[in-house]
Amino acid sequence: MNTPSVETLLAWYDQYGRELPWRTKVDDTSSKKNAYRIWISEIMLQQTTVPVVKKYFTKFLDQWPTIESLAEADSDEVMACWAGLGYYTRARNLIPCAKIIVQEHNGKFPNSSKELLKLPGIGPYTASAIQSIAFDIAVPVVDGNVERVYSRVCGLTNPLPLSKPEIKKIAEQMTPSERSGDFAQAVMDLGATVCKPRAPKCIICPWQRECTSYRLGLQDKIPYKITRDPKPARKGILFVCLNENNCFLLERRPQNGLLGGTLGWLGSGWDNKSKGIFSDLEGGLELPGEIVHVFSHFKASIRVRVGVVEASEFAGLDIQWIPKEMFDVNTLPTLMKKAYIHACKHFDFCNLEESMRISRS
Ligand code: ADE
Repeated sequence: MNTPSVETLLAWYDQYGRELPWRTKVDDTSSKKNAYRIWISEIMLQQTTVPVVKKYFTKFLDQWPTIESLAEADSDEVMACWAGLGYYTRARNLIPCAKIIVQEHNGKFPNSSKELLKLPGIGPYTASAIQSIAFDIAVPVVDGNVERVYSRVCGLTNPLPLSKPEIKKIAEQMTPSERSGDFAQAVMDLGATVCKPRAPKCIICPWQRECTSYRLGLQDKIPYKITRDPKPARKGILFVCLNENNCFLLERRPQNGLLGGTLGWLGSGWDNKSKGIFSDLEGGLELPGEIVHVFSHFKASIRVRVGVVEASEFAGLDIQWIPKEMFDVNTLPTLMKKAYIHACKHFDFCNLEESMRISRS
């Protein structure tokens, strides 16, 4: 195999790299790289695609433009801004991390992996991305796109995830001492726009000549993968209900656990919660069909019930009443949003009847 050329890829990146809101422009020497923006983007980009993150990133940065403003932020507002992005532990760690940076690091991100890894929510991948992209330190940054690119270019026959250590070594050897942040992002962009999972565009690839998979016609097969067991299925129920004053009944979910810290409908079954005050509702009108939502480790099929509840039955419990006219479904995580949309599709909330009463058993 010819060694893939760093210079060729950097030249490609200068011309074709994506313009993303957290990146400084290639020819922009005036604005220093902003570790805060890079950190937020990298946290958002875990498990989420660039097109989705772009919108959330801009909204987030408008609301909290600096690390100091985020350290002072209201956590419910941060969760609301994150609603729909998923993997909510990421959002819960943001304020604690910002506070430590402001209080213990004078508002400046540390640049050593030792210090970065002490911060909440920053693991080995994010630490290396911050070191590389914000501080141009020559460390390898390996995400899913990068794994695919190196697997193909180097023609790795070992399947993922077994080949991860091999890929890390290749990335270490490839990472240049200058422009290492640009190089890391160039490999990511190549994976996202050219060396795509399906139908890679080898014809326009700057590394085509060096690519072992292309030479052997294996670009559609590599990276080989160990087949995964299908995700286990769970069934459950969610209650979309109003009280006599036209307020929706919602709970802020416990910090630790599925969709932790987010607002949601009461329900049971799908989250394997032990039976508690919020899982013992009964009654209401069960709507036809179900909603399906895929989590990282299981697939949930959920029936939706609508109905009316009496506020006094929930007195003293840790729930929230949100007036119908103030309710904004976009502040809910995707599963809860799907339940609301399903409810509205099948039911008119102006037509609640006493026979649809939902009560605590
Ligand atoms: N995925 C994760 N971080 C990225 C970045 N900085 N640019 C493009 N894709 C990414």
